[in-house]
Amino acid sequence: VSTRLYSFVAGASGAWRIERMDAIAGAALPGAARLEIVAGSGAGDKATWVLRGMTSNERYVTREEKQQLVAKQEGLGRPASTCAALIPIRKSEAWWLLPQDERRRILEERSAHIQTGLRYLPAVARRLHHCRDLGTPEPFDFITWFEFAPSESAAFDRLLAELRATPEWEYVEREVDIRLARAPA
Ligand code: HEM
Repeated sequence: VSTRLYSFVAGASGAWRIERMDAIAGAALPGAARLEIVAGSGAGDKATWVLRGMTSNERYVTREEKQQLVAKQEGLGRPASTCAALIPIRKSEAWWLLPQDERRRILEERSAHIQTGLRYLPAVARRLHHCRDLGTPEPFDFITWFEFAPSESAAFDRLLAELRATPEWEYVEREVDIRLARAPA
């Protein structure tokens, strides 16, 4: 049984209400009212769209960064985290042609992705999903998911603005910013 695979199912039902969807780069996604996150491949026959991705091993973090992350981060599902962001991202062919060490240099030494992100922990909880590991053609390379309290929304917007201004984001060719609120049960 795979617990690494998650499906983000948009449609008429789901635990999260979609508040807005902005195409930041490339094509938008069709609008929908709700989102459900399902462990596994999800049925999706009545869905407006389904995005799938797998959690994976880390590619870039050093031991020291890993220790800093583990010391500060908190998990998903905190009761106060009633806001969420689902941000699927596709990077360019040029990114994927780079060797591992050059990608690390762009992500951290030039863009400070991890050091910047660390400043927003533990307010923001996150889970990264990889799509290229699925073995099927997928519209995105990554499905990123973030949860935070409503009082942290402005901080989350600042984090995104910081990251989008980095050299790493020059390789982002498709990005959709989807904001959600936990729907009353
Ligand atoms: C909340 C604070 C954040 C922290 C602590 C953080 C941390 C990290 C770390 C450690 C990695 C590297 C994982 C690895 O070694 O493979 C990573 C990758 C990634 N992060 Fe963040 N991040 C944060 C926010 C964000 C935001 C707001 C976005 C925007 C959508 C984002 C998008 C990504 C993507 C797409 C990757 C994969 C990059 C790649 O493999 O090419 N992160 N993040």
